[in-house]
Amino acid sequence: MKLTIIGSGYVGLVSAICFAKIGHEVACIDKDENKISSLKKGIIPIYEPGLKEMLAENSANISFTTDLSEALSDSEAVFIAVGTPQGEDGSADLSYVLSAAKEIVENSQEDKVIITKSTVPVGTADKIRDIIKNSASKFDFKVASNPEFLREGSAIQDFMEPDRIVIGVNDKKSDKILSEIYHYFAPEKLVKTDSKTSELIKYAANSFLAAKICFINEMADLCEKTGSNIKELSQAIGLDSRIGDKFLNPGPGFGGSCFPKDIMAILNIAQQNNVNLSLISSTINSNKNRKSEMTKKIAKNFDDNSLENKKVTVLGLAFKANTDDIRYSPAIEIVKNLSKNNAIIKAFDPEALENSKQELKNYQNIIFCNDLYEAISDCDLIVIATEWPEFKKLDFNKIKSITKSRKIVDLRNIFDLEFIEDQGFKYDFIGKKN
Ligand code: UGA
Repeated sequence: MKLTIIGSGYVGLVSAICFAKIGHEVACIDKDENKISSLKKGIIPIYEPGLKEMLAENSANISFTTDLSEALSDSEAVFIAVGTPQGEDGSADLSYVLSAAKEIVENSQEDKVIITKSTVPVGTADKIRDIIKNSASKFDFKVASNPEFLREGSAIQDFMEPDRIVIGVNDKKSDKILSEIYHYFAPEKLVKTDSKTSELIKYAANSFLAAKICFINEMADLCEKTGSNIKELSQAIGLDSRIGDKFLNPGPGFGGSCFPKDIMAILNIAQQNNVNLSLISSTINSNKNRKSEMTKKIAKNFDDNSLENKKVTVLGLAFKANTDDIRYSPAIEIVKNLSKNNAIIKAFDPEALENSKQELKNYQNIIFCNDLYEAISDCDLIVIATEWPEFKKLDFNKIKSITKSRKIVDLRNIFDLEFIEDQGFKYDFIGKKN
């Protein structure tokens, strides 16, 4: 089927390339001419493992343009995958979504199903239906919701092997078109509902996961005080199939472009409907406090409890491994706190260094290193802030030869205490007994 994808950001691009892979003819449109000309040359503007190769393999099925009429021509379905930035009150700003919908209606030369892929508040499909009602177009437009559940860093796998595909349809034609679009997947993967429920499913899923992370982080705090073992606790509760073993890794708090924004947005939706989401409010607070708690934890590794003039190496700046994304990254917040406390920081990240330099340009005493061991050399303390796989393979003999420090603070719990102690290092981690 011929599909149009409006917006070549993270969601739009991954979806477009995966739709091309499963046999659709996909036209991608974006207003950013530089981005489109790069994409035409096969250059992907984001770091996502496997995406470049997948684009190269499926380039015959995919085209990129800045011309909306060209992108819309002959397509039966149009996905809106533009940004929904956070407004001042925490609500999702719908201006890009609604103007994309208006432009689709004004520039289409045949009937279409308009599908929102962006994360949008409940009632957005109805707002698009109003735009259609108020337009002068002679064509028949239907509106559906199809939220995405892709994770940065594993987006291709998430698309190709989904737990479920949520389809919010209020009419038979949208149902038929979306079922055809996802024909590649087993029919039982498709969860069909109405557009309002579909819109809320996305927020509910992200809120639940965010709360789950805060829960395990708070359990780690309790383990720290009671002398219990967070790793074993996490494994044991995860074995209960009602709880599940995923998203139970304690850490420096959640970040990224989705959870922090989406939990604010669902809170805003609840406030507008006079519903008290106290659990979500607590989640927001718990995650907010986490970064300053982590900074205090780092300082405690010095005898005087002070970061002043201490040489701290921060390994990992991205909000999680396998991405160059630093939006709401706890590692970045911690580096800012270290800098404010007059530490001397050397920072390394395999992919997020350039983005970090920009974000941290107004902060003092930060040296960005292109090499992992250059960052570690001559430091007083090593902090692991993002769980990049290469950090698990640290060469401890090499570390001993380039720095006198024998202290590691692991905010991602990537090592075992015994292993690190055997290497001759003092190991502090999340949930470690004081
Ligand atoms: C998240 C959701 O997982 C996706 O399903 C969703 O499609 C996406 O948001 C979105 O709304 O677009 P993403 O932001 O890429 O995906 O990242 P996650 O892997 O979910 O991680 C989010 C944060 O939670 C990271 O900072 C990560 O380090 C943290 N985390 C995750 C933990 O601290 N502990 C865990 O056990 C898991």
